[in-house]
Amino acid sequence: MHFQWYPGHMTKAKRMMQENIKLIDLVIELVDARIPVSSRNPDIDELGKNKARLILLNKSDLAEEKQNDAWAEYFKEKGFSVVKVNSKRGGGIKSIQGVIQEACKEKIERDRKRGILNRPVRAMVVGIPNVGKSTFINALAGKACAKTGNKPGVTKGKQWIRLNKNVELLDTPGILWPKFEDQTVGLRLAFIGSIKDEILNTEELAMEMITFLTEKYPGVLEEKYSIEISEDSYECLRRIAESRHCLVKGNELDTNKAAILLIDDFRSGKLGRITLEFPEDYE
Ligand code: G4P
Repeated sequence: MHFQWYPGHMTKAKRMMQENIKLIDLVIELVDARIPVSSRNPDIDELGKNKARLILLNKSDLAEEKQNDAWAEYFKEKGFSVVKVNSKRGGGIKSIQGVIQEACKEKIERDRKRGILNRPVRAMVVGIPNVGKSTFINALAGKACAKTGNKPGVTKGKQWIRLNKNVELLDTPGILWPKFEDQTVGLRLAFIGSIKDEILNTEELAMEMITFLTEKYPGVLEEKYSIEISEDSYECLRRIAESRHCLVKGNELDTNKAAILLIDDFRSGKLGRITLEFPEDYE
């Protein structure tokens, strides 16, 4: 499967990030808890060097809890502060301000030694499109001061959101792109809906999903769709179509409709909490 991207936007977004990052002490990086590595930007560690770093495992409500914990450990071992969050429902948000202070304690101490007291920590939220940046900023700031949606390059003046007397947040998140050249990464991004569905072959994507679930989450498809699993993923898709009465005129099975149904069920959490990549594969 091949994926198309938009280098023009990418260059612009990266340039904006490079500018904004100079203004801040802390990078708050959102990743998708279902694919914590594949939803990272390959340049972020270089861009964010010399800054305090906080990784948020967002959409943690959609990923398996045991794996969320394993991923949190994984990133902590690499020196990041980590919090599991559900920005949509506000889960984990309360702990963020304390974690920010903790993540920036070296900077605060440096300031103190220089006689600079009470200078707020400045932070910026970054992440790939659709990872939940705007939702998170809204949840953290407690009001609708960040617009939902992706609009790279529209910001004019810099706006800071004052979270409390200790922390200020740049109101515009930094949008960066994932490592899309890698086809495994591309496939996982497609699963979570981060690649425009119009450019994907939905049935192929659904078949990949079936193969993955059969291996890593055995029993999920059987239970959800009351089907027997076949080794042939297209046959499984046909069985889902049959079970869910996805039919085209003439009573033919509509495997495309079944594919859309399966992908939607996964994305909305109706198949349960599912993690797509595992820390043990990234040691
Ligand atoms: P972005 O700024 O990084 O591009 O992402 P944005 O906040 O626009 O969020 C993208 C989608 O992800 C939104 O869904 C949002 O509700 C959802 N989302 C954000 N955080 C979480 C989370 O922690 N858990 C879950 N389950 N979803 C989250 P949408 O489909 O665009 O809208 P809607 O479903 O909220 O109506």
